[in-house]
Amino acid sequence: MDKPKQRAIRMRPDLVAMKGYKSPSAPLEVLEQELGRSVHEIIKLDTNENPFGPPPKALEAMQRLDQELSVYPDISSRLLRDGLAEYVGVPAEYILAGAGSDDIITLISRLFLNPGDAIIDCPPTFSVYSLNADWIGARTIKIERREDFSIDADTIEETAIANDAKLLFLCTPNNPDGSLIPEADIERLLELPLVVVVDEAYIEFTNRESFAKRVPVTPNLIVLRTFSKWAGLAGMRVGYGVIPLDIIEHLWKIKQPFNVTAASDAVARACLEEQDLLNEQAQILIGEREKLIEGMRAIDYLDPYPSHTNFVLAKVTDYDVPDIVEFMRSQGILIRHYDKPGLGGYIRISVCKPEHTPLVLGALRRFPHA
Ligand SMILES: Cc1ncc(COP(=O)(O)O)c(C=O)c1O
Repeated sequence: MDKPKQRAIRMRPDLVAMKGYKSPSAPLEVLEQELGRSVHEIIKLDTNENPFGPPPKALEAMQRLDQELSVYPDISSRLLRDGLAEYVGVPAEYILAGAGSDDIITLISRLFLNPGDAIIDCPPTFSVYSLNADWIGARTIKIERREDFSIDADTIEETAIANDAKLLFLCTPNNPDGSLIPEADIERLLELPLVVVVDEAYIEFTNRESFAKRVPVTPNLIVLRTFSKWAGLAGMRVGYGVIPLDIIEHLWKIKQPFNVTAASDAVARACLEEQDLLNEQAQILIGEREKLIEGMRAIDYLDPYPSHTNFVLAKVTDYDVPDIVEFMRSQGILIRHYDKPGLGGYIRISVCKPEHTPLVLGALRRFPHA
């Protein structure tokens, strides 16, 4: 028989039964120990970070922090949002900053979803959309992508209407394959009676114009962007949403009051002053991405997909993926593999600095003979 105090602990059974998010990678200091190599000898290509790291002005801004650290940050991230307004090309009132775009996904889910409500996502895709639905007890209806990772707009339409879905998450370019959703598909899906969340975490690595400028004239469109990929700030946690006024008004009420730290705010603003350098580095990464794809194509057990991001997904034939990942790890190179249904036979490699691309391709070529 439970003791009375134990009986008082009544957690939600659905959350107790949840698996939760497992980080696909380990922190740098743990990796140093596990691999017996210093950070500088590890080529970390498993979580799509920016290998160039933060730009110089961001590091300087970090060093200048003093009083800012002892007082609470600006609750509305006003200066950051002003800078973003210029960068994105929409007025600051449409922009909400957060602790990564993950934070904005949480806020959107919190605003729209009751337990039992439906969201739609298109797997394989970023897992945080359905994770947030799970936290709320909402349902995720998964409309699988086709073999070439294109979305099935007809089925999305039918399913959204049949289930009265409230949110549709479209990741473009998509993680994990790097494909873009055709603009015509997004436009068509915006006709649905739901809110379409277009996640553009990797937009700076494409030649596609962001959907952000359409937000002020599209009442059911939200665009998500981040500093994690383009600006090398994944560890700092800064992302933002471009959101219609009728929606953003309510998101302000339900965010953690100080969701963007003083350090994140200052460093992100400094990145906005380094746009030329960051864009130059993005161009270098785009060039390396194409070299990586070409090199992988020439390896007979790999079939890489075209990509519009800072990573490349490849189908593996003839060999076991965990063996490849383990071999690469033994060479100090971390790459991503999956235990998700349908993705077991794939590896994903983030694009690296030019000096590392030959090392990565060399290791992949050596693998079968190792
Ligand atoms: C598609 C996509 N959206 C959002 C994120 C999260 O970005 P942030 O670091 O801003 O939370 C990621 C991170 O990998 C991603 O791949």
